[in-house]
Amino acid sequence: MSRKVIIAGNWKMNKTAAEGRELVEALKAELTCSCYDQLDIVVCPPFTTIGAVVEAARGSRIKVGAQNIHWAANGAFTGEISADMLKTAGVEYVIIGHSERRQYFGETDATVNSRLKAAIAAGLKPIVCIGELLEEREGGLTEKVLTTQIRGGFDGISGEKMAEVVVAYEPVWAIGTGKTATPDIAQETHAHIRKELAAMFGEEVAAKVRIQYGGSMKADNARELVAQPDIDGGLIGGAALKADSFVALINEAMGK
Ligand code: PGA
Repeated sequence: MSRKVIIAGNWKMNKTAAEGRELVEALKAELTCSCYDQLDIVVCPPFTTIGAVVEAARGSRIKVGAQNIHWAANGAFTGEISADMLKTAGVEYVIIGHSERRQYFGETDATVNSRLKAAIAAGLKPIVCIGELLEEREGGLTEKVLTTQIRGGFDGISGEKMAEVVVAYEPVWAIGTGKTATPDIAQETHAHIRKELAAMFGEEVAAKVRIQYGGSMKADNARELVAQPDIDGGLIGGAALKADSFVALINEAMGK
């Protein structure tokens, strides 16, 4: 089963519209070779930067994602953004349940599930984040935590839709810390995730789901991580904020 590698940049709360446009222009100038069609390249700017980035990315191989979505279609939800609003703004992907949202904004597997259903219903491509805390890894709870996140987060999704969902495995202890899971640890954990997906949706669906690694991924480690059989790309924070580091990482992930 060959799955298309997907490299997504999560810009988090960084980049004004002008800065976002500048970064996309720099990426476009670097990513001209048709060889880059072998993988999906996504950038996920903050909401206020999406318009400028969609415009700058139009007609290029760079796809645009958002960092969150609300489950309701509209209404009295101050500060939230709906699936339709994202679709209309030209967004294709959406990150759901990032660990920073779980840690700082009360996101749970139940809210992840609601957001995922809204994204799927609107035809957005979800990138659903899961991952364990350091104390959970040290306490031998990693597989249990991931299984709970998978069962709760993906509850009620059809196999057909699940096959198109991207899962981002991001060990929380590796995010922004410079500590990366070794390729062996990451592979072992990705294999567990795929096994859980197979238990829930069947082998055929599980074999189609793309599972990205996230957490201090950079040019130095991308090649070895993406070479693992169950690692289908990366969700990148820090290294996605500059064109040179993001392009270098993409090249390594492609084995270029
Ligand atoms: P990082 O962030 O690459 O800066 O560790 C990854 C993420 O949080 O998605």
